[in-house]
Parts: sequence; C-alpha cells; structure tokens
Amino acid sequence: MTSRSHRHPALAAALLGALACGRSADPTADLSGRQLAERYCASCHLLPEPALLDQASWRRWVLPRMARRLGLRGVGDADAEERVEGGIAGERVRAAGVFPDSARITRAAWQRLADYYLRAAPAALGAPPTPPVAIGVPGFEVRVPTFRIASPMVTLVHVDSVRHRIFVGDATPTGPALTVLDAAGRVTASYPLPSPVSHLQLDGDTMKLVFMGKLHPSDVPRGALAVITAWRPGSSPSIAWEVDTLQRPVHASYADLNGDGVQDAVVSEFGNLTGRLAWYERTPAGVNVRHVLAPQPGAITTVVRDFDGDGHLDVLALMAQGDEGIVLFRGGARAARSPARRCSASRRRTA
Ligand code: HEC
Repeated sequence: MTSRSHRHPALAAALLGALACGRSADPTADLSGRQLAERYCASCHLLPEPALLDQASWRRWVLPRMARRLGLRGVGDADAEERVEGGIAGERVRAAGVFPDSARITRAAWQRLADYYLRAAPAALGAPPTPPVAIGVPGFEVRVPTFRIASPMVTLVHVDSVRHRIFVGDATPTGPALTVLDAAGRVTASYPLPSPVSHLQLDGDTMKLVFMGKLHPSDVPRGALAVITAWRPGSSPSIAWEVDTLQRPVHASYADLNGDGVQDAVVSEFGNLTGRLAWYERTPAGVNVRHVLAPQPGAITTVVRDFDGDGHLDVLALMAQGDEGIVLFRGGARAARSPARRCSASRRRTA
C-alpha cells in the first residue's frame, strides 16, 4: 500500500504549510502569563489577583475549574471537577455552554497563565487578624425562644412587624415547613411545604411565597412562586397566581412593570451553573410571560423603583456568582412600547 502523502505530495505540503501557519498565527504566542490572565480571566469577571488565594487552592480548585470554562479538559484532578447533573438539569448546563466543547485557549498559553498564578500566589495565606468578639448588640437584649428544630436547615426568617409574628422556613429533609411564632417565640402554626421557602412577603392578607425547589446547588428548574390571598385565620386561602419551573429562586420583587394595572414579579433565580434574573408578566389570560433580564446564575436580590426619574420602573439587581456586581436594568420610553423589552439591560457596574 502506497502512502497517501507519497501519492499527493502537494496535499502533504499544503497541510504542513497550514500547520506551520497556524502556529505562527497564534495571537497569544507572545503574551506573558499576566497578559493572558488579563485577556482570558477578565473576559468573564474582574481580574482576580494571584495573591487572593494560596498556591494549593489555585492549583487544585480554581485553575482547573476555570480551565474547564475555557473548554480545556483534563486540567487538574477529575475528582475536584464540578459535577454536572443528569436529566433536564444537565441538559440546561450543556445548552448554556457553561463548559465549552472546544478550547478557547491553547494548551501552551494556558500553561503560561497557570504558571503565572502559581508563581505569584503565596505558599500559604496567613490568618487575618481577629478583633476581639463582643457579645451582644447595644440596645438589644437576647431572647431565646423555646421553639426548636431537631436538625435545622433554616432557609428563611421573616419578621411581620404589623402583627408581631416571626415566620421560619426550614428545609429539614423530613419535610420542609413554614412555622409561625408569636412575639414570645411560641409556635402558633406550622405548615408542611412542597419545597423549602426562600422569600416571603406579606401585603395585608396576601402572602407571597418563593419556593426554591432544591436547597442544594442544582440546575433543576423546580422552584415556584405563589401569591396566596385571604391568608388569615377562619378564611379559606386560595392561590391567586403561580409561576413554576423557576431555577432555584431566592427572591422576588412585585411591581406592575408594564403598566397594565396587574402586578408582575421580578424573580432572582440564583440557580447553580445556570440561572437567570427574569421578570414574569402576569397576563389577563392567565399565561405567564417570561422576560429574561440576565441569562446567568447568581441573582440574589432586586429593588424595583424609578431610579433615573424618567417615569418608568427600573430594576436594580445584586448578582453574586462569577460576574459579580450591582446592575441597573432601565425601563424606558423605548422599552415601554414593547413589553418584552420594557426592561432593557443597561449595565452600570460598580467595581
Ligand atoms: C468563561 C467564563 C470564565 C472565565 C474565562 C474565567 N472565569 Fe473565573 N469564574 C467564572 C464563574 C461563572 C465563576 C463563579 C462560579 C464558580 O465559583 O465556580 C468564577 C469564579 C471564579 C473565582 C471564585 C471561585 C470561588 O470558588 O469563589 C475565581 C478566584 C476565579 N473565577 C478566577 C479565575 C481566573 C484566575 C481565571 C483565568 C484563568 C478565570 N477565573 C476565568 C467564570 C469564568
């Protein structure tokens, strides 16, 4: 059998030429480790300085995980890798391209970048100085309620200052529950829940609840929001509005965002590897329309207000995963014409 290259010398030469060209055309070939960090690491979030972590933490945890986000496989120990769930959760992570299939950095460039971090990082981080711990808060007195949860996983504490009650949400595996305490800390009611509650708002007799779906990090869209009316003793409460398939939501702000006289909700779907900040339009037909403000995980909380004074509500969001920051999404005249773009993103980053 004659070799192909023997029979097609022109093709072989072209291939070799292409390889050689590819090598010299690598635009990162001349960049130092620091310059590579500025280019790659700062493309997703602020540039983290090597001094922030000790060498072992960079080597074992952070660098391999960030390499994977740049599409490089096999960096570091397999058992230190972030796990991707099966089923619909894993499909979401793959669809979002959290861990790209193809490398966005060459192995050689990665090596220089990693060497830079490992060389510049301290061998060990000294413990920060600990100020003396003062017990108590001036003007307050500690009262310990008799209420106890055997194996607590408290996900929510809400003080109802109008009716002097305390709501406690708990995620005990035996069954998530919402417990109501009176001002003396005695249990007055306890309700089993479909999943742990992360946020609660009371407006008169209307209770607005956000359910996480899963407490532990997950990409399963099993969270929900429920607005329950007539929530008072002796009456029959009913669910007036429900939004489901939320991604591990942790907070909701309620406001009439499109000016149709009906309250909508801005939901911080913290998620895990995927997640989003979205507002849900409540339509008269009973259909919920989702408008995504930020298609990334890490939304913690929002404040809805007319921040820029243009007569339209804006959304200020605290994002705390990866690309951390406080982001203002402005609702403006242009956005108001089309409800889908009512809150068009205008990023105002704080350092
Ligand atoms: C493709 C986007 C992307 C790139 C590129 C990227 N990061 Fe990240 N980084 C993230 C996200 C998302 C998170 C938050 C998720 C997490 O903690 O794993 C994060 C978190 C971090 C954290 C915090 C880790 C923790 O556990 O709290 C550090 C430190 C970090 N990155 C350093 C780096 C460095 C150094 C580089 C360059 C080698 C880099 N990142 C490149 C997306 C990226």
